[in-house]
Amino acid sequence: MKEISNIKAFGVIGDPIAQSLSPDIHNFWIKKSNISAYYNKFHLQTKCATEDIKALQRFDVQGLNVTMPYKEYAIRAAVNVSETAEKIGVANTLKSTPLGWYADNTDAVGFLNALLSCLENKDLTGKAILLIGAGGAARAVAYILSKQNVDLTIVNRTVSKVDDLITELAPAAKSNSLSDLTNDMDAADIVVNATSLKAGLVDSIEFPDGNGRLFFDLSYGKAPEEILRKASQSGWQTEDGLRMLVEQAALSHELWHGETPDVEAAYQMCQEKIR
Ligand code: ATR
Repeated sequence: MKEISNIKAFGVIGDPIAQSLSPDIHNFWIKKSNISAYYNKFHLQTKCATEDIKALQRFDVQGLNVTMPYKEYAIRAAVNVSETAEKIGVANTLKSTPLGWYADNTDAVGFLNALLSCLENKDLTGKAILLIGAGGAARAVAYILSKQNVDLTIVNRTVSKVDDLITELAPAAKSNSLSDLTNDMDAADIVVNATSLKAGLVDSIEFPDGNGRLFFDLSYGKAPEEILRKASQSGWQTEDGLRMLVEQAALSHELWHGETPDVEAAYQMCQEKIR
């Protein structure tokens, strides 16, 4: 089946999906560049995700972002997978090709670009970075940081999970449990929180004096407000995951439309929308 309109279809799939800012971001850039396209939100509720994602390509959808819980299925639905997505094991971006979907992961470089934008000299060389968490979100961060010239330590409640992650993605990184978190934070130049905050880590975390060091939380909106407030009160520079969201979207836009969009303008638009 071919669509009749010449307006190209893009979108994001996930469950839940109502809160997604991706349509706002992508349609903002599409409109700015006068591209004949529209980006939609698809609430996909299915037990056959791989087949359903393949089917969307047959309906002439040109590109998709993929969020929870379908990022692993996106890889399975693709005929070609980028090295980054293959390594991390999940994809968040699909591009239609004549053979089928091409799958990529823009979270990793999106995170790196967001992190660099927080640093005055945009340089990570030699920095001691503490990554908290070893779940899905932490994998993209560990993968991209392992390619930088940094001293990476990864801590997680379940130590076996962090050890597996290090073996697979970041062989030079050190691991630890959460039992020494305050000291581990004190030894770091930058702390990245990739745990799910609902978990209750917020109450137990004891921030050492930040002295202007960076505490970067991957989540955005209401979820990280409390932990970021605590960090800020202890003298840390804080950043939430909103900039990362926009940066990963920019890389998807580049892959689909071949142009670099205005990240700063979209970031400001999102800030106004959610704050
Ligand atoms: P995501 O895709 O958002 O990364 P995830 O894969 O479920 O979600 O990972 C959640 C992360 O939060 C994990 O690192 C998890 O630690 P475990 O590997 O030990 O489960 C962490 N997390 C969840 N609950 C936690 C808690 N109460 N205290 C500390 N860390 C917690």
